[in-house]
Amino acid sequence: MTAWQHARRKHANLRLIRDRHPPFRRAVAADVATALRCRGEGQGSGRPLDTVLEALRLMWTSDAFAALVAYRARAALQRRGVPVLPRLLHHVSMTLAQVCIGDPVLIHPGVYVPHGQIVVDGFTEVRSQSRLLPWTTLGLKEGNLIGPTIGEGVVIGTGARVLGPVHVGDGARVGANAVVVRDVPSGAVAVGVPAVVRSSSPAG
Ligand SMILES: CC(C)(COP(=O)(O)OP(=O)(O)OC[C@H]1O[C@@H](n2cnc3c(N)ncnc32)[C@H](O)[C@@H]1OP(=O)(O)O)[C@@H](O)C(=O)NCCC(=O)NCCS
Repeated sequence: MTAWQHARRKHANLRLIRDRHPPFRRAVAADVATALRCRGEGQGSGRPLDTVLEALRLMWTSDAFAALVAYRARAALQRRGVPVLPRLLHHVSMTLAQVCIGDPVLIHPGVYVPHGQIVVDGFTEVRSQSRLLPWTTLGLKEGNLIGPTIGEGVVIGTGARVLGPVHVGDGARVGANAVVVRDVPSGAVAVGVPAVVRSSSPAG
């Protein structure tokens, strides 16, 4: 494949991802609900005005939440094909809390990033209810643009790296500082370098 064909294919794939970005309000409402649950602050009433007020409170008290909202705005603008502004919003996310999320990434609504300092890149997907603790990297192995798929309700511990086209199953936990280069079954706990599965729930 020529460099031009490669670039065209990458562009086509990016368009597919952009079409899948969640709408801004739905994504932020789900992020608010997940943040409240993870912080032990209840469920939220779900009423639109309460959700807006909770979002503002979380943005004020948590740089990382503000950075995530900037990312949501960026993704929604990319979905609409708006130029320039998404790049500015990326700088806002980086400046506020070092939240570095690449263009090919798909983050489903309702993800919790408590402190920032995360890198997510490549064709990587993070499903709802997952938590990305600080200093985590979800990214690529050399020579492959496909990154990890993180299932629902996964916890990625601080300092962990999940690299390459691996699948981390629903409800799995990746330990602090683990380096995951193989699939992790649902409900499992993976620790170490390279990460090994230490335990798996019967449901998994
Ligand atoms: C991996 C993890 C999810 C396991 O939690 P847990 O199920 O409660 O497990 P335990 O703490 O009982 O530990 C079980 C075993 O795994 C080991 N272990 C736990 N975490 C580990 C890690 N990150 N790396 C290597 N080994 C680890 C323990 O030493 C213990 O080993 P042993 O059975 O030989 O004594 C948890 O330890 C972890 O790393 N969570 C991430 C927390 C985090 O990132 N916090 C940052 C907040 S900002």
